[in-house]
Amino acid sequence: MIETVKAKIVQNNLTYFIETYGCQMNTHDSEKICGILESIGYCHAQSKKDADLILFNTCCIREHAEERLYGNIGALKRHKDKKPNAIIGVCGCMTQQKDTAEGLQKRFKFVDIVFGTNKIHMLPDMLHDVMIDGKRAAYTDEDASINEGVATKRKSNGSAYVNIIYGCNNYCTYCIVPYVRGAERSRKSADILREVKTLCSEGVKEITLLGQNVNSYGTDLQNDLSFPQLLREIDKQTDVKRLRFMTSHPKDLTDELLACYGDLPSLCEHIHLPVQSGSNSVLTRMNRRYTREHYIGLTEQLRARVPNISITTDIIVGFPGETEEEFSQTMDLAEQIGFDSAYTFVYSSRPGTAAADMSDHLDQDTKSERLARLNVVIKSSMRDKNSLYDGQIVKVLVDGARKRTDGEVGGRTRTAKTVNFLGETSDIGKIVNVRINKVKVHTLYGEKIGEEMTDA
Ligand code: 5AD
Ligand code: SF4
Repeated sequence: MIETVKAKIVQNNLTYFIETYGCQMNTHDSEKICGILESIGYCHAQSKKDADLILFNTCCIREHAEERLYGNIGALKRHKDKKPNAIIGVCGCMTQQKDTAEGLQKRFKFVDIVFGTNKIHMLPDMLHDVMIDGKRAAYTDEDASINEGVATKRKSNGSAYVNIIYGCNNYCTYCIVPYVRGAERSRKSADILREVKTLCSEGVKEITLLGQNVNSYGTDLQNDLSFPQLLREIDKQTDVKRLRFMTSHPKDLTDELLACYGDLPSLCEHIHLPVQSGSNSVLTRMNRRYTREHYIGLTEQLRARVPNISITTDIIVGFPGETEEEFSQTMDLAEQIGFDSAYTFVYSSRPGTAAADMSDHLDQDTKSERLARLNVVIKSSMRDKNSLYDGQIVKVLVDGARKRTDGEVGGRTRTAKTVNFLGETSDIGKIVNVRINKVKVHTLYGEKIGEEMTDA
């Protein structure tokens, strides 16, 4: 059956284009989609307007993402008019929101395929439905299976994502993720270790373990490893130079996990630890199940173990009922901790979540004004933290060319700082020494000194 589809794709030199919204999880899902499409003969299109298959991998974490997507899908009507055989598909988190999949196909008659995050491996079947049977395809029913061995096309820049756990059981009251990505399911540690080993043998130097809540890893498995044990085994059994993970929950950052810092040579001196708010009453309403004091204590312990650790976070302002006093607690926490960087968001109401039904939603102006005030504090700590690097020599894993300046390439330090410098495209995927000579809020600049490093 797949052979018929494959033959059609190859004979007609069909191309695909995928537009990805949202988080690293979606970026990695798109890598799997590309891998599957190329395994059945599709080539990557130079631009969207030439493509025979256009896919939108969507995000629904905030309202604004949805609005943008609807605009972009609507714009494809003309593409379909000009190229009637083109296939248009929508996948990702949005398609798993209640009623959205159906709504999408009703609203946009030219959308041929809609599929959820657990159905990526069935893409060839969907293409068969459309190309051979002339049907529209919707594969969005809930399905908690884990599909191993999916072809994946990663960028060859020395760095790779590896899923360790899918879904989330935390039900933070503002968050749609548990509803669209389902309950927590961990991959078997043997599968993860095998994948990491293969990637290392292919030249990958940095692995980022992915999960909505990596700390829960293994709690749904019998006789398998916990998250800290998994980190230790990866460090011990593989050649990975740099190990990272995203995202961890402060309530589950155990002593066992803290003990990995400063102990495992591959574990990078960086943690992304979303705090969301600095007010205990807001944290309670968010169902975060930790206090600001606990969070501050964690950052102190991390810094005691690894003095140069960089700490980044996510913060939401304008949660329902947030008073000026509660917001000032967030400002105070941000000043006290001095984050290396933070993603700051205004609260966005997601239908179906508990917070959407809370009273006292704030008006947009108040939310925007608070965001602007918080961003001043964040920017200032980012500048302070970055200025510590001025004149230092850092190791940079080069991930690509920078488009704005000719000859400039860039990458990351172990502490996840972006560093740009004049280099060669042959530096991509290598770890090089760079002396920092200019620091800005978001980026460090420097000059390359010496050749590739053997250490990380
Ligand atoms: N509104 C605003 N921000 C949100 N996030 C999650 N849900 C919402 C929402 N409804 C933010 C959180 C989370 C990050 C990925 O997105 O800060 O950590
Ligand atoms: Fe959403 Fe909370 Fe789960 Fe993160 S831990 S995905 S914020 S519910």
